[in-house]
Amino acid sequence: MPWHPHLWHPTTQVALHPEPLRVSGADGCVLQLDDGRSLIDAISSWWVTLHGHSEPSIAAAVGLQAQVMEQVIFANFSHEPAEQLATRLAALSGLDRLFFSDNGSTAVEVALKMAWQWWRNQGSDRRRLVAFEGAYHGDTFGAMAVGDRSVFTEAYDELLFDVARISWPHTHWGDSDIETRETQALNELDDALAVPTAGVILEPLIQGASGMRMVRPEFLRAVEARVRDRGTLLIADEVMTGFGRTGSLFASQRAGIQPDLMALSKGLTGGFLPMGGTLASERIFAGFISEEPLKTFFHGHSFTANPLGCAAALASLDLLEQHPERFLHFEGRHRPHLEALTAHSMVKQVRCLGTMAAFELDCGSTNYLNPVGRQLQRLCLEDGVYIRPLGNVVYLLPPLCISDKQLQNCYSAIGDGITKLS
Ligand SMILES: Cc1ncc(COP(=O)(O)O)c(C=O)c1O
Repeated sequence: MPWHPHLWHPTTQVALHPEPLRVSGADGCVLQLDDGRSLIDAISSWWVTLHGHSEPSIAAAVGLQAQVMEQVIFANFSHEPAEQLATRLAALSGLDRLFFSDNGSTAVEVALKMAWQWWRNQGSDRRRLVAFEGAYHGDTFGAMAVGDRSVFTEAYDELLFDVARISWPHTHWGDSDIETRETQALNELDDALAVPTAGVILEPLIQGASGMRMVRPEFLRAVEARVRDRGTLLIADEVMTGFGRTGSLFASQRAGIQPDLMALSKGLTGGFLPMGGTLASERIFAGFISEEPLKTFFHGHSFTANPLGCAAALASLDLLEQHPERFLHFEGRHRPHLEALTAHSMVKQVRCLGTMAAFELDCGSTNYLNPVGRQLQRLCLEDGVYIRPLGNVVYLLPPLCISDKQLQNCYSAIGDGITKLS
């Protein structure tokens, strides 16, 4: 299938990458291709498809809502689906206020702007933002600035504001010097927080795009203790980790931390519709209430609180509440397969968290541009499994509906692919 003459695909280099596969349908974990083949979507279509593709109860909820009210301006107006969603997310997250946007990057932008302006509204000079090495928070400018510098940001580096960057002590099975690296990172954080800081942003428990890099809950609790000690704000980017992905509804809960601001997207609508949300504590919200107009949070997107997205999100929350077993015990499903994979000499640094499993292919460079991932992707496609390694990091992040047989197929395809590569 040739490249379409009028499309421009994300993070795709036409001169180097193969043409996209044309998809005609998607059901559960399976993508149906135009040429008659079917593929297991082992990465939930960029981590968004939560329960499964075309999940009937979400499809029905969106269809019903579309017949009642498809969209309405959210300044001057409110509506039932938005109010219900905000109420339910507040009860689940411990953060009382929901601000809507359209995607993960904008959910992060909103959190950063809220943190920044909250201090300014109080007349404080806290200016510094603290972020972690390896972080990825999205592709808009603020999100890129707090994200680590990488191939994604290189072209724009001189436009990005500075942040204090702290080491991220990621770990894996059999890691023997994790305490030392955690102590070092916490010392760096102590130094950074000596400067008046507006907020600390992190991906709780696991950094996604930089290579599924997992930290221990105790590290995050130590970070939170320092944030509280210094009276600054903690921003949790749960765009990838939210909604059961880590084996808890939110990674922050699994880690035992309570952020002041939380960015959500991807699984928010069960992966049906583009929607972002930033949850804020009542204390943050209160800092914007004033008769001075300049203390307003001047931010708003055309599709804020789109009723179809809200309906999808409510139906998705219903499913999570009805079937917690689908995400609570996922780690146990990955574990035996991962143990078997360790027999391959190329497989290193195995780790697993909730529905997400990852390991590294030991082949020199750990760079995102390492071609080994694309080679393995091609081999897995031949076996009917779609993965999208991050350089030499191979991971699975399947929809919750994946059957044992389908999961087995994913691991078999990866195992066979690695054998061929080595
Ligand atoms: C942790 C995290 N934050 C933010 C984003 C950006 O989300 P979006 O691609 O919806 O803008 C991503 C995307 O992968 C992410 O993983």
